Amino acid sequence: MTAATPRTPVIAIDGPAASGKGTLARRIAATLGFDHMDSGALYRAVALTVLRNGTPPEDTAAAIAAARALDPARAAAMQSDPAIRSDTTGTAASVVSAVPEVRAALLDAQRNFAAHPPGGRGAVIDGRDIGTVISPDAVAKLFVTADPEIRARRRLGELQGQGVAAIFDDVLADMKERDRRDSQKAISPMVAAPDAFVLDTSRMSADEAFAAALSFVRRALDR
Ligand code: DC
Repeated sequence: MTAATPRTPVIAIDGPAASGKGTLARRIAATLGFDHMDSGALYRAVALTVLRNGTPPEDTAAAIAAARALDPARAAAMQSDPAIRSDTTGTAASVVSAVPEVRAALLDAQRNFAAHPPGGRGAVIDGRDIGTVISPDAVAKLFVTADPEIRARRRLGELQGQGVAAIFDDVLADMKERDRRDSQKAISPMVAAPDAFVLDTSRMSADEAFAAALSFVRRALDR
């Protein structure tokens, strides 16, 4: 009889745009020596491919074709393109992510990473549906959120830091629209898993949020 290989732990970190979940996920992964996957980057890569082909993100057939053609090496290579992080690409990613066939095409890459993180110790994956759909049996699930006005203020600061001219009201309106689309899509909507620890960072510094998240994750790993 062969013993089953123990599964490596998965930490699921979901939440809305500009909630700080990506920063938290990277810091937690670095602290624990786990591998990190930014699942939004996959949707962004699909969106940027569609936009670069001169096609609107609402073109469902184009989005499906781009998602099916996206291999991990190409997705990784696209991450060094500054356009991948723009709000135009983020909004387009939100549009293409509502297409069921796009989600299906990106499922294996995420589940494989969860099951076989390259370093072999564990995976931290951030996104919108990690705790609900990609890894419902994750050992720790966090749902990181903050008031829309606060997320818009943080995003405005980031944009200004990059020398991008932006107006608070526009950033806030875009953020609310993205929240609405991400949380109301018919499949895999953004929602906190019932067993997720909801971390509202509205009145926390980045270091306070990290300390709270790490302490929750460590407790879950020790269980
Ligand atoms: O996290 P982000 O802003 O990079 O994500 C961009 C878009 O991708 C987001 O608005 C919705 C979509 N997305 C998703 O549907 N499911 C995920 N697991 C991650 C992102």
